Amino acid sequence: MRAARLVAFGDTPRFELHDVPDPLPGPGEVVVDVYAAALNRRDPWVWRTADYCPLPVTLGSDGAGRLSSVGSDVDGPAVGDAVVINPTLGWGDAEDLPGEAFDILGAPLDGTFAERVLVPAANVAAKPAGWSYDEAAALNLGGLTAWRAAVTCAGAAPGRSLLVTGAGGGVGSFVVQIAAALGASVYVTSSSQDKIDRSVALGAAGGFRYDDPDWTEQLRAATGGGVDAVVDSYAGDSWDRLLTALRPGGRLVTFGDTGGDEATIDVMQVYWHWRSIQGTTMGSPREYRALLDHVASARWRPVIDRVYPLEEIAAAAVRLDAPDRYGKVVLRVRPDADRGDDHER
Ligand SMILES: NC(=O)c1ccc[n+]([C@@H]2O[C@H](COP(=O)([O-])OP(=O)(O)OC[C@H]3O[C@@H](n4cnc5c(N)ncnc54)[C@H](OP(=O)(O)O)[C@@H]3O)[C@@H](O)[C@H]2O)c1
Repeated sequence: MRAARLVAFGDTPRFELHDVPDPLPGPGEVVVDVYAAALNRRDPWVWRTADYCPLPVTLGSDGAGRLSSVGSDVDGPAVGDAVVINPTLGWGDAEDLPGEAFDILGAPLDGTFAERVLVPAANVAAKPAGWSYDEAAALNLGGLTAWRAAVTCAGAAPGRSLLVTGAGGGVGSFVVQIAAALGASVYVTSSSQDKIDRSVALGAAGGFRYDDPDWTEQLRAATGGGVDAVVDSYAGDSWDRLLTALRPGGRLVTFGDTGGDEATIDVMQVYWHWRSIQGTTMGSPREYRALLDHVASARWRPVIDRVYPLEEIAAAAVRLDAPDRYGKVVLRVRPDADRGDDHER
């Protein structure tokens, strides 16, 4: 099978298309013929982290396709099934946090930027009906992270208000759509009015330019004193202001640090206003099933920025950093496969 292998770490990663042996499923495992895969911030984080793992390696956490073989002891999934892949490995039984076996598909374990990927049978589920493989591939890591952040941590529901930072990001666009679909009032921040307008089209109630010095005052005015929860993945120097965007008793939910992994805050903004800060990463198997149950009846679809053939992975990697990107960058791995591009609902 063909695999896009990372052969050199760096800011400009080097990929090569290699012919590698087909994976064989062991007990409890399945092999998925990958039709489409999608990039996540985790991929550049790996390729920029020198010596993260031995090279060459196949990156990719997100994928969708059809099962091509199943191992012994696999009960349920069958060859030919159209599936999505849950990239969370070894979460365990607890809901509040994963166990020690926790890992994410795609480096050091070979991931989805290849024609076939080996995963535990428990990590595949039926592709959402009517979704294209591109949409189904785009859903998984970002959708799961967004579900846990928006629903489990931020309590998205009617009567609740949320602020989503970096709404044009791969995860942010999922948070906006999930929270809006569940009836929450969603506000966004972005660097561009165009991305704010697109977020409003996805269901947000409004948005603010984070380069506007008065944006928190505008938000507090619009929400009558601040939002119930902020869902943030930027961190860096933004937290002091984000805390003041919360109503007293509100919660800052954090799942990333695009803007830097050190933040200085006025601690009084936390304890004197009964606020909390909660971290989250990925999600449990139960949350992944809840996400799929939700999308079975929801009217939204993943926002796809661009689709590239597997052999153009270097261009896809560059696109991930483009300032005008909005939503997910997808790799079409098997262009000749049955695409299932059925957009009926
Ligand atoms: N913990 C987890 O499970 C998990 C899962 C997925 C991702 N992550 C992390 O979460 C972060 C976001 O991931 P992603 O895939 O959504 O990344 P992404 O698609 O690259 O989005 C990043 C967004 O950050 C926004 N941004 C830039 N400057 C900002 C500022 N000053 N204030 C607020 N937002 C700003 C940009 O928004 P505009 O373009 O609108 O300006 C951009 O869309 C990354 O750090 C990633 O590593 C964590």
